[in-house]
Amino acid sequence: MTANPAQPYDLVVVGSVNVDLVVRVDRRPGPGETVLGSDLSTYPGGKGANQAVAAARLGARVSLLGRIGSDAHGRLLRESLQRDGVELRHLHETSVPSGVAMISVGPKGDNSIIVSPGANARLSEQDVEDANDLVSSAPVVSLQLETPLPTVLAAARAARRVVFNLSPAAPVPDELLSVCDPLVVNEHEAAMVLGTPGLPAQQAKALLSLGPRSVVITLGADGAVAADHGGITSVPSPQVDALDTTGAGDAFTGALAWRLAVGDTLADATAFAVKVGAATVRRSGAQSSYPSLAEVATL
Ligand code: RIB
Repeated sequence: MTANPAQPYDLVVVGSVNVDLVVRVDRRPGPGETVLGSDLSTYPGGKGANQAVAAARLGARVSLLGRIGSDAHGRLLRESLQRDGVELRHLHETSVPSGVAMISVGPKGDNSIIVSPGANARLSEQDVEDANDLVSSAPVVSLQLETPLPTVLAAARAARRVVFNLSPAAPVPDELLSVCDPLVVNEHEAAMVLGTPGLPAQQAKALLSLGPRSVVITLGADGAVAADHGGITSVPSPQVDALDTTGAGDAFTGALAWRLAVGDTLADATAFAVKVGAATVRRSGAQSSYPSLAEVATL
């Protein structure tokens, strides 16, 4: 693994920035029902910001392209990204509320999320165009789907290498799938894209046949499967007690993208990212749970 000193950033993330409002519940309410939960916890989150912070905390040089509101949430988000050393020249402010995610965490650490995109929905193709030098020079650009699809496509077109986490799950054009290296999905997202569930190795092969240069399927406590046209690798996960799985997929993707950017093979980068994902589920919240490189080494 070697960072290229000629490149100012290992990784550019184009994506969402949210405040996460988190309540733990014994069970989730049905329609028309009210349940009582824990005290409210407020954390910095958003799939894009989570990827950026996960990589930065591990030692990556990261720049984030995104939008926040000119509001108290926006100030909290900017300050926390700054504390983690994420470069924010292209984190713009806009006159709508910052993105907010309302998250309930169940007794087994599982989560349900409703996102109000707010400023994230205003991240535009023009914003990508204005950051073209940054986006087109980075070894890896990491993307997700909490910002508008045309913006994601514009970033994918400009990037040298695209790591794309198809989350939240939604249909995407073949053009986007074909530049993914890798496409990162969990089992549910894989089944959504393929229209059918299946064994992870079979799903990975089927996804590859849709055009991505490589595919990674995350499997939670069972690790991950990485596949490219050279073959398939299964990576087991260290066994940990899961307290809160929120943002584990984002930490996985941020770590994977960084290691690919500094020259790891897909299999090695996946093995590293699986450990990062396992470390995050042991603590509450998304960014608040992300590990340092030293902690990952203990797993
Ligand atoms: O993947 C977890 C993230 O999804 C949370 O941080 C929340 O902001 C939503 O974007």
